[in-house]
Amino acid sequence: MKEKGVRELPKVELHLHLEGAAPPAFIRGLAAEKKEDISGIFDEQGGYAWRDFWHFLKVYEAATSVLRSPEDYHRLTLAVLEESAASGVVYGETFLSPDFCGGRDPGAWREYLHAIREAADQAERQMGITLRGIVTCIRHFGPEKARETAICAAETAGDWLVGFGIAGDETVGAPKDFAWSFDCAREAGLRLTAHAGEWGGPESVRAALTDLNPERIGHGVRAIEDLALVDELAERGTVLEVCPGSNVSLGLYRDFRAHPIAELDRRGVKVTISTDDPPFFHTTMAREYQELHRAFDWDEGQFGRIARQSLDAAFCDADTKARIAKLLEG
Ligand code: ADE
Ligand code: ZN
Repeated sequence: MKEKGVRELPKVELHLHLEGAAPPAFIRGLAAEKKEDISGIFDEQGGYAWRDFWHFLKVYEAATSVLRSPEDYHRLTLAVLEESAASGVVYGETFLSPDFCGGRDPGAWREYLHAIREAADQAERQMGITLRGIVTCIRHFGPEKARETAICAAETAGDWLVGFGIAGDETVGAPKDFAWSFDCAREAGLRLTAHAGEWGGPESVRAALTDLNPERIGHGVRAIEDLALVDELAERGTVLEVCPGSNVSLGLYRDFRAHPIAELDRRGVKVTISTDDPPFFHTTMAREYQELHRAFDWDEGQFGRIARQSLDAAFCDADTKARIAKLLEG
């Protein structure tokens, strides 16, 4: 498959952190406008500089610290969607954090969400890409803050804000500490996803399934270390939001060939393909496709099947799905 051909395949991306997708030049520009020195988070080539997962989270939060108004998020959303559309993404879901958007104040959160949604509507008109939002609480910020986050999410649940989840450091705390937040979001009609099985092993995926009962798992790839769990995921129809380039970049796997996505797929688990935090991991959706083609010889048929599987697992309404399905059919 040619580079150009890969770019043009219509793609569905379910796992993208909005701040994590911020082009470094955009963050540098915003810091300059605000006369803030965050030069320590960039390398000599101008990309984000981090050493390991925990340092990555710190750099992520430092980059995010210059985003301080709804207007900043409006600009960010447009910049991010421009990159996604250039990679052939026709439908995406993005993680949004009231922690960063107004410090979990419900009134401020509404203003941030309004600005993000306006930018998404503009991008849909101008670039033909559709976006929906998923609020995420952040595990290492603790369950108290997660409750406030869930309340923000519940108050703004609807046709655009469609899901709730948890991200952050999976080695801190336990899923059951966040059960109240997940119940609150579920009762408000939000669909659920939880990061697990990235820095935690199969037991972390089991705990998320048991205590939070999400439809989708963010990453989940380390389930491969327990084949009974893999069978269970396949039987339950739990969808994995797999981000191979992120996992390779963070050092979970040596390279794409060593990544378990193809094995999980062969064993009947519903896998999808996403970038997580693309500029941090020097990736794009087009690059993910290219690398998967190289590693596993995945072709247009396989990518088409996974795009359709991703759309089936999307949290948007049926009318939106039907519209996007036509784009996937070509
Ligand atoms: N937040 C942003 N990227 C993340 C990742 N890969 N794992 C957990 N939390 C995150
Ligand atoms: Zn993630």
